[in-house]
Parts: sequence; C-alpha cells; structure tokens
Amino acid sequence: MKVIPALPIAAILACMSVPAAAVAADAPSKPAAKSAQAKQIERGRYLVAIMGCNDCHTQDFHARGDFKIPEKDRLTGSTVGWRGPWGTTYPANLRQYFQLATESAWVAVAKEVQRRPPMHNFSLNAMTGSDVRAMYHYLRHLGPAGAPAPSALPPGKEPPKPYVQFPE
Ligand code: HEC
Repeated sequence: MKVIPALPIAAILACMSVPAAAVAADAPSKPAAKSAQAKQIERGRYLVAIMGCNDCHTQDFHARGDFKIPEKDRLTGSTVGWRGPWGTTYPANLRQYFQLATESAWVAVAKEVQRRPPMHNFSLNAMTGSDVRAMYHYLRHLGPAGAPAPSALPPGKEPPKPYVQFPE
C-alpha cells in the first residue's frame, strides 16, 4: 500500500495564506486608501512650508518666530497691509478660501492666478497638477478658521496701520 506522507503543518498554512494575500493585493483595503490620503496631506503640508505661504497668509508668522504659531491657527489671513503702486492688499484667509473652492476649480485657479502684489502668483503657476491637489487636501484637512481678511484699498488711499510700504 502506498503511503502518502502528511504535509508538514507549516506547508499547509502557507498554501492557505496564498489566496488571501492575492485578494488583498487586488482590492486595496480601507486602511491603504486612507494612507494615500494621508500621504497627500503630508505632501501639501511640506509644500506650503517650503513655498513660504505662511510668510504672508499667517498673521505675525515672523514676528512670533517662524512656525511657532500652532498649525491649527495658521493660514487664516492677515490684517497687515501691503502698500505699493497697486494700492494696499491683504493676504486672504486661505482656511476659508479652501472651504469654498472645489478641487477642480482650485487646479484651474492655481495654473493661472494673477492676484495683485506681493502674492506669489509665479509659485502657484509653476506647480504640477499633483502638487496643487496635495496643497488642496492639506488646506481642507486644516478646516475652516479665522475671519475674512480686510478688503484691498485703492492706490492713494491711506491704509490703517500696520502696513508694509513698498517704494513707489
Ligand atoms: C509675499 C506675500 C504672499 C505670499 C508669500 C503668498 N501670498 Fe497669497 N496672497 C497675498 C496677498 C497680498 C493676496 C491678496 C492679493 C489681492 O488682493 O489681489 C494673496 C492672495 C492669495 C489667494 C487668492 C485668494 C482669493 O480670495 O482670491 C490665494 C489662493 C493665495 N494667495 C494663495 C497663496 C499660496 C498657496 C501661497 C504659497 C504658495 C501664497 N499665497 C503666498 C500675499 C502672499
């Protein structure tokens, strides 16, 4: 009589685990999808930090020491005016702005945005689509906060203090 040797238990377990692993690879589980979103937020956080958006869009960013202001309070705009031949402009509250913008509208805006100085239009215009989207997800992740920035003033109109004066 032919005796079929019993498979070692480790081999049986290894066979059983193959189909399960294959299924997991085909259909990404929820935690995997979440981590893709988390990566995008992380990339957006990095881009906002290195592109200097806080310099103007976070009130007292430099005065209180770079990055000392907690993240939850950043990018809420500023009441410090920027005065020059264009009048006086105020850095917008980006926390509110991004609540209203859709992702596709933001992608279009970033490509062509031409706001008055000293807004860094050129930085946004030069970004890749995927970086622009990452920035969007970071700002949405921060959520709404703060009040709207003051409206811009026309050239020649004396703004309230404080403001930064550019040579005319
Ligand atoms: C040197 C100062 C400065 C920097 C740096 C800066 N901005 Fe601005 N930003 C402004 C000012 C001032 C305005 C308002 C311009 C106007 O009223 O025309 C503005 C406007 C904007 C607007 C338009 C908001 C609206 O309501 O239409 C967006 C969006 C924006 N900035 C995003 C950014 C992002 C993102 C960065 C970083 C890449 C950045 N800004 C860097 C000063 C700055």
